Amino acid sequence: VPAIVLDGKALAAQVRQQVADVLKAAGSPEVCLATVLVGADRPSRSYVAMKRRDAGELGITSHHTDVPGDASQAEVEDLVRSLAADPAVHGILVQLPLPDGLDPDPVLDLVPAEKDVDGLTERSLGRLVRGLPGLVPCTPLGVLRLLEHHHVPTRGQRAVVLGRSTLVGIPAALLLARKGIDCTVTVAHSRTRDLADVVRQADIVVAAVGVAHIITPEMVKPGAAVLDVGVSRSEEGIVGDVDPAVGEVAGWLTPNPGGAGPMTRACLMENTLAAARLQGVLPPA
Ligand SMILES: NC(=O)c1ccc[n+]([C@@H]2O[C@H](COP(=O)([O-])OP(=O)(O)OC[C@H]3O[C@@H](n4cnc5c(N)ncnc54)[C@H](OP(=O)(O)O)[C@@H]3O)[C@@H](O)[C@H]2O)c1
Repeated sequence: VPAIVLDGKALAAQVRQQVADVLKAAGSPEVCLATVLVGADRPSRSYVAMKRRDAGELGITSHHTDVPGDASQAEVEDLVRSLAADPAVHGILVQLPLPDGLDPDPVLDLVPAEKDVDGLTERSLGRLVRGLPGLVPCTPLGVLRLLEHHHVPTRGQRAVVLGRSTLVGIPAALLLARKGIDCTVTVAHSRTRDLADVVRQADIVVAAVGVAHIITPEMVKPGAAVLDVGVSRSEEGIVGDVDPAVGEVAGWLTPNPGGAGPMTRACLMENTLAAARLQGVLPPA
């Protein structure tokens, strides 16, 4: 039996529609997402363009700043500080990675928790660790939404997250282990021994590595849910961490492209709405 497709495009369309409906029902208040792009990294440029287009389609204003790639740490920090202080700005997104030589952490930590639509500041990540409500990184949130929407069982299930970045791997692991989700989580990384054995234990696999087809069918427990977050660029276009043949073994599988990517963008819109609520622009949910 082929795996059930965890269709990120379809669910993302629903999430976006919900955001648009909430804004409309609230009388279309002015909600502004500020995007900051430092340098001219081509994938980053197109990611920001797509995020701004999504915002526009939902009735969210976007305010974009293009910063030259040779800007200093102080210049980037000054910009984020001014957006943080601007009451007309409700969400701030600093597109990562920053060019070499710039340290992202001090920049991100200038974003107030209530405007932190990427969920990557010290404060937001700290709240996630504590299990407190707050804005959560978009890619792990999208993964969770896909599991929930498709009623993939999580309670007591074994989950393996490949990757330990603060952008994807660690927040994904924290979310999966959260009370109410209740997975037993293993985090694997480049130093993990016997990766195939580790992955084979898992009922849920979240692959956020960036190595093309690192997950092969032999590594996957029959019936497992496999979420392919990784992106590698090859001559054939975008390739995920998961060999498509895994679809013959897995119970559920995200397409890639068309899985985690669209959900990441939709969750950014959801987080922008949540940020606007935290700032009193919209009534609480
Ligand atoms: N679809 C989306 O919307 C979306 C969003 C965000 C990211 N991504 C993609 O997801 C991937 C991960 O992103 P990231 O920001 O977390 O990347 P990252 O910071 O480069 O982290 C990659 C992780 O993979 C681990 N790793 C590398 N080689 C490995 C191997 N052979 N076996 C097991 N683990 C290995 C690394 O281990 P060490 O820690 O030991 O180095 C690291 O923890 C990338 O391909 C990125 O492009 C996609």
